[in-house]
Amino acid sequence: TGMFTYDPGFTSTASCESQITYIDGDAGVLLYRGYPIEQLAENGDFLETCYLLLYGELPTAAQKADFDYRVTRHTMVHEQMSRFFHGFRRDAHPMAVLVASVGALSAFYHDSTDISDPQQRMIASVRMIAKLPTLAAMAYKYNVGQPFVYPQNDLDYASNFLRMCFSVPCEEYKVNPVLSRAIDRIFILHADHEQNASTSTVRLAGSSGANPFACIAAGIACLWGPAHGGANEAALKMLGEIGSVDRIPEFINRAKDKNDPFRLMGFGHRVYKNYDPRAKIMQKTCHEVLGELGIKDDPLLDIAVELERIALQDEYFVDRKLYPNIDFYSGITLRALGFPTSMFTVLFALARTVGWIGQWKEMIEDPGQRIGRPRQLYTGATSRDYVPIARRK
Ligand code: CMC
Repeated sequence: TGMFTYDPGFTSTASCESQITYIDGDAGVLLYRGYPIEQLAENGDFLETCYLLLYGELPTAAQKADFDYRVTRHTMVHEQMSRFFHGFRRDAHPMAVLVASVGALSAFYHDSTDISDPQQRMIASVRMIAKLPTLAAMAYKYNVGQPFVYPQNDLDYASNFLRMCFSVPCEEYKVNPVLSRAIDRIFILHADHEQNASTSTVRLAGSSGANPFACIAAGIACLWGPAHGGANEAALKMLGEIGSVDRIPEFINRAKDKNDPFRLMGFGHRVYKNYDPRAKIMQKTCHEVLGELGIKDDPLLDIAVELERIALQDEYFVDRKLYPNIDFYSGITLRALGFPTSMFTVLFALARTVGWIGQWKEMIEDPGQRIGRPRQLYTGATSRDYVPIARRK
């Protein structure tokens, strides 16, 4: 059985070569195509980041205008898609709806599934980046029982998404530029993160030559888990459960207790053993959003700040290099923006779609690409003879 290297959780196995995203977990550095996440989040917009991740370079003004136009042209979803939504229960989790509806896109776009054709790969990519906000907003609207809102293509990507989520037919909707900038920045922060579980899932699914829409649906399914994209939802739930600043020590002690499965959600990261650089930008964005909305005292923010302060002084967290990750402050921000917790992971999926596509495209274009096929160390029964049921004890 000693033929293969056993590496549970793939902590030391590189599954691919990639030129997209670089993380130095010890230094707290995250680069997209060499550009620091801080600079992209501060100066650029999400579609520029999408272009960068997909093509490897920042776009010129003309390339950017062309890319924005192409994405904008594909924001509508087929009208028949809305009938799919009506088959779900009203209280269906929007992640369940998103997995299903993105998977269903593969049944609508037969023309962009010949993955050997670069042109078709690009059309499929643009379609997904364009349609994810529309599908995510529809999942939300269906949940709250309001009519779907069609995209409005003279708006930028983030503003259009906010409008599709929060406008209602009986009222005029005005986009607040501070809030749409915040959403845009959240999208940039989540756009890619090298070979995490969902991205590896997309690569593995894609390695068989599967339809790209189905591959992204597989990524969404993986992202859903609380140890991954579900952590922002879990972090906010935890802050609510803690309820008041004086109960923080009780929860810190539970997180340290090895007999208690409880963990501090939004804390710790497989790769970052220093402050998650995204968490810093997220914290700043959180304060900006609360400031813009005039929310002076958010009890959950008070709990979060105090929890972070106490944990970062505690030997347990210091020794294990456990710092807040991106999900720690994103939940508070998204809640302030008006999103229910069930939508948090949906927004993560929307933003990560470009990263998944970029990684999928890189893999397909790699001449050395083969189907992903991990091996195992077999620990089951050795060969034995079949026993007829009447003779089994
Ligand atoms: N609270 C308490 N203890 C923790 C935590 C936590 N949040 N995270 C890790 N530990 C402890 C863990 O018990 C272990 O202790 P010991 O060495 O004594 O057994 C040690 O730290 C190492 O943890 P691990 O589970 O081996 O680390 P991992 O790399 O397998 O897991 C993680 C990384 C992110 C899944 C984990 O830190 C965790 O469960 N965090 C909470 C969930 C979370 O916030 N996830 C979001 C990740 S960032 C966004 C994304 O990528 O989706």
